[in-house]
Amino acid sequence: MTDTAKTYPPSAEMAAAAHADKATYDQMYADSVKDPAAFWGEQGKRLQWMKPYSKVKNVTYEYPDVSIKWYEDGTLNVAANCIDRHLEERGDQTAIIWEPDSPEDEAKHITYKQLHRSVCRFANVLKELGVEKGDRVVLYMPMIPEAAYAMLACARIGAIHSIVFAGFSPDALAARINGSEAKVLITADEAPRGGRNTALKVNADKAFETVEHKCKMLVVQRTGADVAMENERDFWLHEVEGDVSDDCPPEEMNAEDPLFILYTSGSTGMPKGVVHTSGGYLVYAAMTHQYTFDYHDGDVYWCTADVGWVTGHSYIVYGPLANGATTLMFEGVPTYPDAGRFWAVCEKHKVNQFYTAPTAIRALMGKGPEFVEPYDLSSLKVLGTVGEPINPEAWNWYNDVVGKGRAPIVDTWWQTETGGHLLTPLPGATTTKPGSATLPFFGIEPVILEAESGAEISSTEAEGVLCIRDSWPGQMRTVWGDHKRFVSTYFEQYKGYYFTGDGCRRDADGYYWITGRVDDVINVSGHRMGTAEVESALVAHPKVAEAAVVGYPHDIKGQGIYAYVTLMAGEAADEDLRKELETWVRKEIGPIAKPDLIQFAPGLPKTRSGKIMRRILRKVAEDDFGSLGDTSTLAEPEVVDDLIANRMNRK
Ligand code: WTA
Repeated sequence: MTDTAKTYPPSAEMAAAAHADKATYDQMYADSVKDPAAFWGEQGKRLQWMKPYSKVKNVTYEYPDVSIKWYEDGTLNVAANCIDRHLEERGDQTAIIWEPDSPEDEAKHITYKQLHRSVCRFANVLKELGVEKGDRVVLYMPMIPEAAYAMLACARIGAIHSIVFAGFSPDALAARINGSEAKVLITADEAPRGGRNTALKVNADKAFETVEHKCKMLVVQRTGADVAMENERDFWLHEVEGDVSDDCPPEEMNAEDPLFILYTSGSTGMPKGVVHTSGGYLVYAAMTHQYTFDYHDGDVYWCTADVGWVTGHSYIVYGPLANGATTLMFEGVPTYPDAGRFWAVCEKHKVNQFYTAPTAIRALMGKGPEFVEPYDLSSLKVLGTVGEPINPEAWNWYNDVVGKGRAPIVDTWWQTETGGHLLTPLPGATTTKPGSATLPFFGIEPVILEAESGAEISSTEAEGVLCIRDSWPGQMRTVWGDHKRFVSTYFEQYKGYYFTGDGCRRDADGYYWITGRVDDVINVSGHRMGTAEVESALVAHPKVAEAAVVGYPHDIKGQGIYAYVTLMAGEAADEDLRKELETWVRKEIGPIAKPDLIQFAPGLPKTRSGKIMRRILRKVAEDDFGSLGDTSTLAEPEVVDDLIANRMNRK
């Protein structure tokens, strides 16, 4: 049992040097849940406000009138907090280290002063293109400094950014541009990753074929590839930038003005636009960054995520820069030019805190320790993981081979919706257990409910669905354009709580162990995907009659995508069609959604009322059909025999 496995207390040195040792954590945590308004009122002071807030918290989880406001009468500018206020003290300190895809190319060190100039100029370019406060701007960008400039430029002028991961298809991009009625799309000619270039501008052009409103395109030159530019619609950044000033005063924003929209997958329907606002989000991102990673002035911090995901928002850009940190931005992939790249970069830039995903750790673990051993990793002080449960084997490898047993591991559990970490160890305070996200962050009250009844389980040892009792400043405020969906997704099923969608166990020490999603969301290599999205892409293919998608355990990716497909009458189920469907899903959504296994099935198991029995499909996909449970309610029990006989995953 993992419960009784070895535990790892913080070292005495770490506890002494850290922002919080155990006694501090216990005291601060108790204070934070006893009087949240007082606690967060104090924490709000870590930002610079244009007009100070007088009200800290104004929240109701009362269904259906859910409303969440923090610091609601305060005003501030997020970019000014991330840049301007550091200029006096650390203008010449590096804000961003940029490490390019190819180790042959030169890294860049961008100081806070340089960041200020670039962001002001970028903001003026956006103004030049007609962007005003409250307008939406979509980003479809490589991992280059301009992605951070663009985010901060939006924040500076009060525009709302919506980043679309550069691995998404033109269709997915178009849906997000249309969904937010964006005024400008910011992209680049190409995105180099792992030695290959993705044609972002070409994809953006394709997306624009289905954009229904007037939208301009701002293009950053990254590789110098020859791309088509459409007159009056497309603009090169370097051309427009030639004419703008270095001066751009930050817009005064209300704490509750939206900072960004980020689309994420849910259990039903198409992805929803998660809305985060300015004040509370930044307080929470900054505080979690400081405490979870035990960040101290002068440290070099590296989060390997992409800015297209929430981790990139909170823990590459906003949290670190709000803290005046040096944050590393990496354009490449962990295995290029070889599986030692992460460690080469850690050595080269003397990284102190390193934050990555379990899927990357598993993939690198599979390549062997010889890719880690040549590098001097003595700078590493804290190692983080995020995105999916980490199996104890990967945890131990990270701890022993990468951290040499000296760097505490912080397994951070959180979501796009939560803005920042909710469950996480603190390096100087928490005894860790491999595979557990351990204990709540300040101000977070996790509860475990019985899935069916919704009753709260009060015993320390518990297993059920994970909810959060009250609000915290970094919480999402609404779904863009659909507040009802926000309320029904997160507050309807279990009244009075925020429902996370995750299953969870609490052990005898009160430690939390995330057991995975309890809804139809799957987690593939740490990327969140709704099975409904993949199904709707599949059924859009003319030869497909019906499709059902489930997750199954995958050694590297955590979960793989398993698709059951029923074809139109007369279509041949062969290898060619299987390939064609894989390509089709890549095109409809993007490479991350490509099914790992496709099983052609003459029929899907359904109840007499026509509901697909996913429980059975999951069992067959797991190769665990001995325990199918009750199949007596099936309309045609014999389809199950066919599914089993032709299953694709055989252990
Ligand atoms: C899962 C990523 C276990 C979880 C920041 C959650 C995790 C979903 C962990 C959110 C973790 C994230 N341990 N599971 N440390 N971190 N998850 O929105 O299922 O992309 O609900 O946010 O990832 O994914 P999202």
